[in-house]
Amino acid sequence: MRPTAWIRARLDRGWSLSSLGANEARILFDVAASAAAVGAAVGFLALFVPGSTSFRQTAPLLMAPILFIAWNVVAGLYTRLRIAAWQRKAVVLFGTVTATSVICVLLGAPAAGVVLWGLIVTAPVILGRLFVALPFSRHTSLVTTLVTHRHGPVLVLGGAGYIGWHTVDLLLGRGYEVRVLDRLMYGRESIAEFVGHPRFELIEGDVTDITKLTAAARNASAMIHLAGLVGDPACAVDADFTRHTNIVATRMAKEVAQSLGVYRFVFASSCSVYGLSDGEVDELSAVNPLSLYAQTKADSERELLHALRDDFFVTVLRFATVFGHSKRPRFDLVTNLFTAQAMIEGRITVAGPDQWRPFIHVRDLARAVLHVLEAPPEIVQSQVYNVGDRRLNMTIGQLAELVATVSREFRDSVTVTLREQAAPDRRNYLVSFEKIRSHLGFQAETGLADGIREMARNFASGSYQNYRDEVYSNVATTLRAVETFYDPLESQRLYTPRRVG
Ligand SMILES: NC(=O)c1ccc[n+]([C@@H]2O[C@H](COP(=O)([O-])OP(=O)(O)OC[C@H]3O[C@@H](n4cnc5c(N)ncnc54)[C@H](O)[C@@H]3O)[C@@H](O)[C@H]2O)c1
Repeated sequence: MRPTAWIRARLDRGWSLSSLGANEARILFDVAASAAAVGAAVGFLALFVPGSTSFRQTAPLLMAPILFIAWNVVAGLYTRLRIAAWQRKAVVLFGTVTATSVICVLLGAPAAGVVLWGLIVTAPVILGRLFVALPFSRHTSLVTTLVTHRHGPVLVLGGAGYIGWHTVDLLLGRGYEVRVLDRLMYGRESIAEFVGHPRFELIEGDVTDITKLTAAARNASAMIHLAGLVGDPACAVDADFTRHTNIVATRMAKEVAQSLGVYRFVFASSCSVYGLSDGEVDELSAVNPLSLYAQTKADSERELLHALRDDFFVTVLRFATVFGHSKRPRFDLVTNLFTAQAMIEGRITVAGPDQWRPFIHVRDLARAVLHVLEAPPEIVQSQVYNVGDRRLNMTIGQLAELVATVSREFRDSVTVTLREQAAPDRRNYLVSFEKIRSHLGFQAETGLADGIREMARNFASGSYQNYRDEVYSNVATTLRAVETFYDPLESQRLYTPRRVG
């Protein structure tokens, strides 16, 4: 963030204690402890060391809080050591207290007062760090205040996508600053309306481009990871590219988030990790990925939930099968495809009508992300949630009938035809959404009929191009991206470190 933008944002936030950023809270605490220690030391000198409170002698002591903060800044206590273990911080603080004391004595402060200052200030600044690191205090709002930037922008990786558009729209509507990092595989039209918004920033680039990722994560308050290749057909185009885009990118995003102190991380996984199951599955059920796409989601989850620091708050959201309108429309999703077939051709073609699917409207997914973002971090830390709503579990056959019924409000004669599956889709799962309902109070707001109706209305008003057009195709877009991936010039542009600024 530019200094002027930071100053403006700081002034906007006001000066109440609850508006403090993480570092502001730390520095205020250290200044307060140090100033209180100066007060105690000067009082001690006045009472017990006659003749020691002349201006020449007390002035260096009064400078102790400033010197102490300056040493802490130089030692990196508010920057790179912010996330270090408390023992390391204790050693550094001991060093900065000693350095401050030595300078005060050299400047002429009475040794007794300086020693007393050092003893008094050491206790709160070191014990404070120990207290924050203790297990019982890890889950308090104190920790949240101390370790999280609560005021930086929310970084949305893949914010120009189908779910990303709704997420950005919702975040901006709630007053957040939003930064998007997206390689714009589907163009920039979806987010054109946000460009120019005072709280919106777009960085065009790949998540695996470390320079861009680092720039995007700087000063962010949270990272929402929606970028990646979506769906079985697109992920089957090139296995290496898929793993790179879905797993390597996730690993890099986690590393950069942790390194830059972006402590909240929300990851978009998928209920397809459950694969095939007989009964209802919940978050404790074994995963059984049946495709490379589902496998990359399972691997990414493991990557994210593995070897976590206590102050890194990761939440994995396993999205149900999405439906509904977005500024980046998708017609590879079964509900949207059926609606397109019904509205354009008047005939829905169904394969595997008895398979169960859990459905959820795309806007509700963005709401779920927001629920997580606004929940106390200790509740959502390292949690996996299925995101959907029991009321929207349905078989593919039932869905086709529902789409046909709703589409008949807009046009005559919509039929449903069964066909054999060329390559059978073996996924069949009933999912429980009890955990997200009971933990976070999340329930869907948009039902299937309303979502289908909204899309049908968009078809009727001509908002979409031909739904079979390449601009909507994940596979065609992935094929183009794969070419770029293997083009050495393009790789060089993406991955060679560049001079910044
Ligand atoms: N839509 C669903 O049914 C569904 C279901 C479950 C999970 N999900 C997950 O939700 C996330 C978002 O899905 P969506 O439907 O919005 O997909 P989408 O394809 O519409 O959006 C993905 C966005 O990410 C960007 N992107 C892809 N790879 C990138 C990279 N390496 N660097 C930068 N940007 C990159 C694309 O340009 C695109 O804008 C995905 O991770 C997906 O797997 C989606």
